[in-house]
Amino acid sequence: MAKPHRIKVMPIFGTRPEAIKMAPVVHALSADENFELIITVTAQHREMLDQFLRFFEMQPRYDLNIMREGQTLADITSRAVEGIDKVLKDEKPDLVLVQGDTTTAFVGALVAYYHKIPCGHIEAGLRTGDKFAPFPEEINRKLIGAIADLHFAPTLRAKQNLLREGVPERSIFVTGNTVVDALLWTLQRLPEPNRTNEGQRMILVTAHRRENWGEPMERICKALRRIADKFPDVQIIFPMHKNPVVREVAYRVMGDHDRIKLCEPPDYFEFVRLMRDAYLIVTDSGGVQEEAPTLGKPVLVLREKTERPEAVEAGVVKVIGTDEEKIIAEVSRLLSDEGAYRAMQRPVNPYGDGKAALRIKQAILHFFGKAERPPDFAPQ
Ligand code: UD1
Ligand code: UDP
Repeated sequence: MAKPHRIKVMPIFGTRPEAIKMAPVVHALSADENFELIITVTAQHREMLDQFLRFFEMQPRYDLNIMREGQTLADITSRAVEGIDKVLKDEKPDLVLVQGDTTTAFVGALVAYYHKIPCGHIEAGLRTGDKFAPFPEEINRKLIGAIADLHFAPTLRAKQNLLREGVPERSIFVTGNTVVDALLWTLQRLPEPNRTNEGQRMILVTAHRRENWGEPMERICKALRRIADKFPDVQIIFPMHKNPVVREVAYRVMGDHDRIKLCEPPDYFEFVRLMRDAYLIVTDSGGVQEEAPTLGKPVLVLREKTERPEAVEAGVVKVIGTDEEKIIAEVSRLLSDEGAYRAMQRPVNPYGDGKAALRIKQAILHFFGKAERPPDFAPQ
């Protein structure tokens, strides 16, 4: 008997958050005989990508190895265009999958379009409405939204953003965010909390965004140092992004403080453990804003705007910007005012229920005429 045609799917990704959020989809599709998977990585990140390829046991067929120190947006774009173009010409997949808002994701969608290959966008429809915040991610998302044939919106809000831009409703699927799938999978495998630092309150910090390079990063680091000085029971842990631009400021301003730990970016087990055991999280990360609410951890966001308003509206995430005095005031409030802290400490799940990858799989099967349309994700 002839073998059924398998849908040839090419996930294209290149950075840490894309690897984490693509992993549940890779595993869901790999486990289904309807699909043949050809993983292509640009390696826009190198070490931070490899960490997660190993962690989630994903084997790329193509590795374009494009990362350079100090790469500009144009560098990443041009190297990724050239590499992806060749891979798509050779492999001719039935569907390209991209995730989120990075330059790799944008270029993956663009070159798929050049080859007239359908494109699925995971985490579609997030918007701030400001083309420079986050930069360049807001525009990357809008451009991918104009190209993609399948839009996997994590929330109803994201779907509405797409509808407002004229995206046809039948091509939008509300799936939840795959980061919740990855987080729940990891949490189930975590050992018990680390009790060695009892009596201390740990603040977990990450910062890397392009719009925070330079002056804002100086202000963030100075504020953190003053917070550590002001609260003797506070320990700050800052797993540093590999970017030398971020590291230089962090080492110079905070490197000699005995209660500020600057460390290498840990793997996902360790980072999830840190989020779970933290008293408070201070970050400019997109993914961390989505994970912390599931863990019931208050988050203060080091940005002027967020494209993830759902947890802000639920009262568990607060956008505070990067003014030094404002950061100190907001962190001090949560450290000193029990009521304010408790109000932000509720676990909520606006971003997903752990089944996003299964909905995405079914939506792809539906697109190829092999399944019913999946029901939309609705938060409980
Ligand atoms: C990129 C994404 C951003 C995402 C972030 C996740 C773009 C334009 N930006 O920003 O949307 O939030 O990833 O972390 O797509 N580096 C290393 N090793 C690594 C990774 C980075 O040395 O494993 C250094 C390199 O010097 C590189 C620099 O970091 O040039 C910046 O990397 P890049 O991907 O350009 O920007 P990110 O700030 O990481
Ligand atoms: N993360 C991690 N180790 C770290 C910092 C972040 O595993 O040291 C994870 C985090 O849990 C989230 C993702 O990486 O899932 C977010 O990546 P990042 O902040 O680099 O990118 P963004 O989400 O802002 O695009």
